[in-house]
Amino acid sequence: MPHELPAPAAEMRVDGTTVSLPVVQDSAGNRAVDIRSLYKTARVLTYDPGFGNTVSCRSAISLVDGDKGLLLYRGYPIETLTEHCTFVEVAYLLIHGQLPSHAESEKFSELLNRHSMIHEDMRTFFRRYPEHAHPMAVLSAMVVSLSSFYPEVENIEEDIDIAATRLLSKLRTIAAFSYKKSIGEPVIQPSYKLSYCANFLNMMFAAPVTNYRIDPALIRAMNQLFILHADHGQNCSTSTVRLVGSAGANLYASICAGICALWGPLHGGANQEVVEMLETIFREGGHVDQVIARAKDRKKPQRLMGFGHRIYKTYDPRAAIAKKICREIFDRIGRQDPLMDIALELEAKALADPYFQERQLYPNVDFYTGISYRALGFPTNMYTVLFAIGRLPGWIAQWQELRRDPDQRIGRPQQLYTGPMETHFVPIEKRA
Ligand code: ACO
Repeated sequence: MPHELPAPAAEMRVDGTTVSLPVVQDSAGNRAVDIRSLYKTARVLTYDPGFGNTVSCRSAISLVDGDKGLLLYRGYPIETLTEHCTFVEVAYLLIHGQLPSHAESEKFSELLNRHSMIHEDMRTFFRRYPEHAHPMAVLSAMVVSLSSFYPEVENIEEDIDIAATRLLSKLRTIAAFSYKKSIGEPVIQPSYKLSYCANFLNMMFAAPVTNYRIDPALIRAMNQLFILHADHGQNCSTSTVRLVGSAGANLYASICAGICALWGPLHGGANQEVVEMLETIFREGGHVDQVIARAKDRKKPQRLMGFGHRIYKTYDPRAAIAKKICREIFDRIGRQDPLMDIALELEAKALADPYFQERQLYPNVDFYTGISYRALGFPTNMYTVLFAIGRLPGWIAQWQELRRDPDQRIGRPQQLYTGPMETHFVPIEKRA
């Protein structure tokens, strides 16, 4: 928990008057000036578009240290969790604050199985979407629809496990069903005999006429990729979940909003953009220099997708793990992808370029995850859906933490008004 440093720790002069403001410190040593009383005492606001300098909440779920390239979930380094845990264990860790015992893990898995089906009436929704509907549109709409089928979510404080497993399990089923629908194949039902990730791969890729065998190495890769995404501080989609949740909206509505935020190409939508960018480079003869030049072009910049991060000013630890997973998948399936070679060349050239060095732009999580998903057989428009499944435990944990935090109020930023102060009213019949 943050604690207040010996007062007065910060002073601000406004209109000749000195205002003292408390400074709080978190467990990682980060300090923040607590400006909550500033408007009341000095009638002045703070201006911070993009909230790059603003702490919106206290959170014990994950720590992102952008200078050290460190990511912790509940104190565990991401490297340890991807190496030794399943995604379901990590989901439990984020939601409950500790890794599950064997018995807790069994119970959680049993609940995941029990809630894996979706209501028969909801299944009819899939038939109404156009064939080429983006799966993120279907996913967000389906998630908010869950609130009408399972309204008892309001009692979440009493049984977080039921609400969490229901969402985790159904999101995976919805994702696989929407894919099957998009390719015109019958859906594959979830199976009690399979683990969370094995079930997902089976629902995605098994078909009545094929003999799909799920490779344990690829199940492990799927687990690792989901774990990489499971939480990441107060990023855009998580902040969206919290903002919507702060109005008292239910869990499904809040997470639906988070899914929509994640879809943006500057956020989780970047994994699709990266692969599309690499495909274009491949089609046009593999010239990475042009892409780098376009990214640096001051007049018409086209950002290098999968590069840069608000917090990381060094290599994103998730990108390093994703790169390794990517290589392991290729070794396992015994096939290479020319896009991987292009990505490696692009990374090397960008990292050696003063433009990227000066701005501390490194590959982020999205740079190598798309290529991994492609190697596993996922179509491009499913990549952000996979990110959403991975991020879901974090969103649930953050929503729950918000509900329990006595400091939280409805999210309501201020603005600097730039409109006119007095506009003369002209009746409609006299307007030009
Ligand atoms: N390519 C080229 N230049 C870039 C890139 C990029 N990918 N990212 C940032 N820059 C440049 C900016 O043009 C700016 O340059 P300037 O100082 O000369 O004006 C400088 O670096 C700082 O950029 P900001 O936009 O201020 O950085 P911000 O923290 O607001 O944005 C973001 C972070 C959105 C991730 C950005 O780096 C970006 O657009 N990256 C590409 C999209 C992407 O990969 N998104 C996924 C992020 S990870 C995630 O959300 C899961």
